[in-house]
Amino acid sequence: WWKSVEPAPKDPILGVTEAFLADPSPNKVNVGVGAYRDDNGKPVVLECVREAERRIAGNLNMEYLPMGGSIKMVEETLKLAYGENSDLIKDKRIAAIQSLSGTGACRIFADFQKRFLPESQIYIPVPTWANHHNIWRDAQVPQRTYHYYHPESKGLDFSALMDDIKNAPNGSFFLLHACAHNPTGVDPTEEQWREISYQFKVKGHFAFFDMAYQGFASGDPERDAKSIRIFLEDGHHIGIAQSYAKNMGLYGQRVGCLSVVCEDENQAVAVKSQLQQLARPMYSNPPIHGALVVSIILGDPDLKKLWLKEVKVMADRIIGMRTALRESLEKLGSPLSWEHITKQIGMFCYSGLTPEQVDRLTSEYHIYMTRNGRISMAGVTTGNVSYLANAIHEVTKS
Ligand code: LMR
Repeated sequence: WWKSVEPAPKDPILGVTEAFLADPSPNKVNVGVGAYRDDNGKPVVLECVREAERRIAGNLNMEYLPMGGSIKMVEETLKLAYGENSDLIKDKRIAAIQSLSGTGACRIFADFQKRFLPESQIYIPVPTWANHHNIWRDAQVPQRTYHYYHPESKGLDFSALMDDIKNAPNGSFFLLHACAHNPTGVDPTEEQWREISYQFKVKGHFAFFDMAYQGFASGDPERDAKSIRIFLEDGHHIGIAQSYAKNMGLYGQRVGCLSVVCEDENQAVAVKSQLQQLARPMYSNPPIHGALVVSIILGDPDLKKLWLKEVKVMADRIIGMRTALRESLEKLGSPLSWEHITKQIGMFCYSGLTPEQVDRLTSEYHIYMTRNGRISMAGVTTGNVSYLANAIHEVTKS
């Protein structure tokens, strides 16, 4: 039956974890996948999550959630993205369902786009999270790209980005990273977001925001939603993929939300029913545990406060490691500029290391990262930062 099946290529991100796990070296370091570690390199379960689980224990039944998932979780999640006092929420103009984290939200949206606007395309930044390409490919939505990263400055190529927005056909779909762009850690400034939003208005483009890192860029989820709020102020009808993988550390629970802003309540009811219709033959309804954890935390002012504190601790540790890595490289006398390590934000540093240099880090130093040179700053600790800096210095010496 399956004679013609060839092995699939390794996933550029999750394949790195597989290689790391298979390496017996005691010195190995994983700065591949974007998963937060504490300063001892251990995965973290937030205290607010532990408390929510204590409250769930004994009370949880294992019934199916509705196709659109937990109503309570979705309500709380929309407040985070759209704002506590959002008129769109009050006017019931947002169609939203619980999703299998950010990936699931993107995939359901891509399928929705294909089903109802089959001729449409999606503009994706260069570079982007590798899985974005898979998602829109499997949904059979043709992909176009737009300029984003400027390799020389290791910052944003704003003028090329604006040109691409202007040159795209009116009414195009654009995938935007709401904050903490993955893999580059480069975000537009507030002023630049305003210009982007203005130009989207002129062109009648649709903005779909992937917001996988709300809270991780600045430590403050409100501040990290700024790009979205600017688009909302300008009256855009946007879509958002939200995820609790990173900001609540609920990676394996696969809990998130897909939302689409509609004309009015009737349209939102119709759109939601179609989003559910897409979910039903794929997985019927989403899992319950993570959704309960999120709704308990966000529904209790004290637990929410604790969560906000814990997000900030994670973001601050990462910011501290950026400084430590840059300073270590400078102390080693590296002639290269490492300023971008502290300028970029969020979970990742787009180091500028070449695929060959990354290969050397892995084969000679047992340091694992994606071949595009992305370093997951969340995997850097006080224990491994000198080792990492030294290895980077060695492979970048001419
Ligand atoms: C990453 O970019 O490392 C994360 O978003 C994990 C993933 O699924 O790729």
